[in-house]
Amino acid sequence: MVSFAGINFKNRVTLASGTCGFGREIAELYDLSRLGGICTKGVTLLPRLGNLPPRVAETPAGMLNSVGLQNPGVEAFVRDELPFLRGFDTKIIANFSGESPEEFAKIAAILVEGGVDMLEVNISCPNLHAGGTAFGTDPVASFEVTYAVKEAAKGVPVMVKLTPNVTDIAAIAVACEKAGADALSLINTLLGMRIDLKTGKPILANVTGGLSGPAVFPVALRCVWQVARAVKLPIMGLGGISDVDTAREMLLAGATMLSIGTAQFRNPLIPLEIIDGLGE
Ligand SMILES: Cc1cc2nc3c(=O)[nH]c(=O)nc-3n(C[C@H](O)[C@H](O)[C@H](O)COP(=O)(O)O)c2cc1C
Repeated sequence: MVSFAGINFKNRVTLASGTCGFGREIAELYDLSRLGGICTKGVTLLPRLGNLPPRVAETPAGMLNSVGLQNPGVEAFVRDELPFLRGFDTKIIANFSGESPEEFAKIAAILVEGGVDMLEVNISCPNLHAGGTAFGTDPVASFEVTYAVKEAAKGVPVMVKLTPNVTDIAAIAVACEKAGADALSLINTLLGMRIDLKTGKPILANVTGGLSGPAVFPVALRCVWQVARAVKLPIMGLGGISDVDTAREMLLAGATMLSIGTAQFRNPLIPLEIIDGLGE
C-alpha cells in the first residue's frame, strides 16, 4: 500500500495518460486491478479529432507523437468509459486540459461528479488567451489553472502535470503548490521534430511533436530531482521509465508514485514486471 495525496494505492505503478486509452485494449492482456492506477487519456470539454496523420514517428530510443488530444469529450468519458474502468479495483486518475482556467474548472467539476479518484491537470496545452503558449510554461498561468481546478475539485486530490519545456521547472512547481495542488506529475513530453530525407518535409503532419520513451529518461529524472527539492508535494515520476532499474532511479530521485508510458508499446506487460520487480 502506498499513500499518495491522501489516497491509498495498492502499489506505486500507474499507466501514463495517452498511452493506454481508457484501458479497454490493455484489459484484454491482463487484469487492470493489478495496477496501482490508470491515468486515462486526456479529455477536453468538447470531443476532439486531434491532428492530421502522420501523428507518430520513431526516433532513437523514443518516439514522437502529435496526437493532438483526440478524445470523445468529458461527458462521453464519464458516460461511456468510466463505468468500464470502475469495474476494476484500481485508482482512476482522470487527465484533462482546457483552454482557460474557467474551462479547466468546468471539466474538473464534471469529472468529480462522475466519480474519478484523482484529477491530473495537463497544463502542457496551449493557453489561447496568451497567444497559444502552454499554460505550464508560465508560473502565473499555472497558478491560475491549479487554483481554479482546486476550487472545483470538492476535495478530490488535484495532481498537476508539468511540462519539461521550460527553463526553471521548479518555479512552476512552486506556483502549483502555492495554488493548492495536492501532488505533481512529471514529465510530459519534450518538444521535438524529424524530417523525412526522401521528401525534405517534416515526418509529422503537425511538424513538431512530443518526444517520449527511454531517450527522455535522464531529463525526467533531473526534473523530478529538482522539483522534489523545491516543493513538499508528493511526486508521480514519469518519462522514459522502461524497466525495474529506471523505476528505482526515479524513486531515488524523489518520486513516490510512477507512471509507465511509451515502454508499453514495446512490452505491454512491463508495468506488471516493474510492480513485481519493485516488490514491497
Ligand atoms: C501517444 C501519446 C499520447 C499522450 N497523450 C497524453 C495526454 O493526453 N495527456 C497527457 O498529459 N500526456 C500525454 N502523453 C504524455 C505521457 O503521459 C507521458 O507524460 C510522456 O509520454 C512521458 O512518459 P513515457 O516516456 O513513459 O512515455 C502522451 C504520450 C504519448 C506517447
